[in-house]
Amino acid sequence: MTYFSTMYRNEELYKSKNILAPMVRVGTLPMRILSLKYGADLVYTEELIDWKFLKSIRVENKTLQTVDYIDPTDGTIIFRTSGIEKEKVIVQLGTCDPNRALKVAKMIEKDVAGIDINMGCPKEFSLKGGMGAALLTQPEKAKNILKTLVDNISIPITCKIRVFQCIEETINLVNELVSSGISAIAIHGRTKVERPQHSNRNEVIKFISNKINIPVIANGGSREIETYDDILKFRELCGASSVMIARAAEANCSIFCKEGKKPLDDVISDYLKLCIEYDNSPSNTKYCVQNMLKELQETPRGKKFLECQTLEQICAIWNLGEYCRQKQIEFQSKGMIGRREVCPDMFSPVRKKLRTDDVTEHKCAFIRVNYMSDPELPKSKLIAHCNKLKTKPPKYETICKDKLFRSIVTFDGKRYSSNYWEKNKRFAEQGAALACIYSLGLVEKKELVENGSILE
Ligand SMILES: Cc1cc2nc3c(=O)[nH]c(=O)nc-3n(C[C@H](O)[C@H](O)[C@H](O)COP(=O)(O)O)c2cc1C
Repeated sequence: MTYFSTMYRNEELYKSKNILAPMVRVGTLPMRILSLKYGADLVYTEELIDWKFLKSIRVENKTLQTVDYIDPTDGTIIFRTSGIEKEKVIVQLGTCDPNRALKVAKMIEKDVAGIDINMGCPKEFSLKGGMGAALLTQPEKAKNILKTLVDNISIPITCKIRVFQCIEETINLVNELVSSGISAIAIHGRTKVERPQHSNRNEVIKFISNKINIPVIANGGSREIETYDDILKFRELCGASSVMIARAAEANCSIFCKEGKKPLDDVISDYLKLCIEYDNSPSNTKYCVQNMLKELQETPRGKKFLECQTLEQICAIWNLGEYCRQKQIEFQSKGMIGRREVCPDMFSPVRKKLRTDDVTEHKCAFIRVNYMSDPELPKSKLIAHCNKLKTKPPKYETICKDKLFRSIVTFDGKRYSSNYWEKNKRFAEQGAALACIYSLGLVEKKELVENGSILE
């Protein structure tokens, strides 16, 4: 009796659902929360590799109200989740080993709604490691992984596959996987070697949907999905229980809105607010916004965006710079657990003891494309100024935090810095030099506003 009621409840989770597909780098917390806000019923994480999870430590982040799985060797956040998505987030695992998969599943089962095993990834990294699509041709091993999880884990277990050229072979594989007791199966209607430009084999998904008695989640339809109604059409064409959407959501995740898609700028603003609130990394944020902007990256605003390196710089373009700054100050004042607490040895005493009390700060960013030749660079200009005055050359000190850099330049007994964090030491030094030459009046504010170094 218990067995049947559990099975029923598990399958229910995947019935008649619109789902955000697993997408590497895209499916991080802000994108998942936004998709849920717009109407997605379930959201998958990006594929997370089992051994990366295994070396992580679980930290409850009281400031952000999240649970973080952190790599203790370099402080990288492997998986960040929030209570808001607890009943709706499915972690997708990349694995080739039932014991490792089980260990990870035990670690995370109280934090998430379900676990999915990736059996569709055709990338060399996965195939070489016996993961992803490599499992399609090893049905026994694939079933063993699923069954180990189904038998020992209290939350639903699923897998995501691709189809074979031969329908018979596909249904044999599906039957084998279903016999493990999984709660649903996601089917991407392309073979391992097919690419997005190939048509999706909706009829194969339909054939399978009619043959098996667990929910089928149809995937691969983004090319034909422009509106919410197209999601319903795709589900119908595949005779599937649910639909999983990747590229259409990557471009504009308001595709999940029943009332219709929202303007891209609104979506980007909503997305950035969440990136600020969940302290998403600038590089991940930038990657996702780039995927939304696509050809709009060629516009003047797009080009300015491409030069951004910090979250605040990105947010400023959508008028959220001040909100970002305030939130970051708030997080720091609440003593947010960051890399320093997790791996203190990353921050040597020399780096930590950089005095900032007497520094003249300016909010100006170093944007590389603004400088056509080396002599125009802020550091070169400052050196030229020193030579003219016959004073000591400037001295730079740099601190590194969360993979970002900030420099202070000492010139003529005074210290200057830009309060933007940069992606490398070289840029940070140029930023400090820019703040210095701006302070000394060697560059006009008007020029910096015009080339985007100062955002008004
Ligand atoms: C940027 C990107 C990242 C992806 N990462 C994953 C992944 O981590 N795991 C996975 O199973 N599929 C991944 N996929 C494949 C998608 O989940 C999906 O199967 C495929 O894009 C077809 O669906 P669509 O037509 O809705 O785009 C990725 C696709 C894209 C575009």
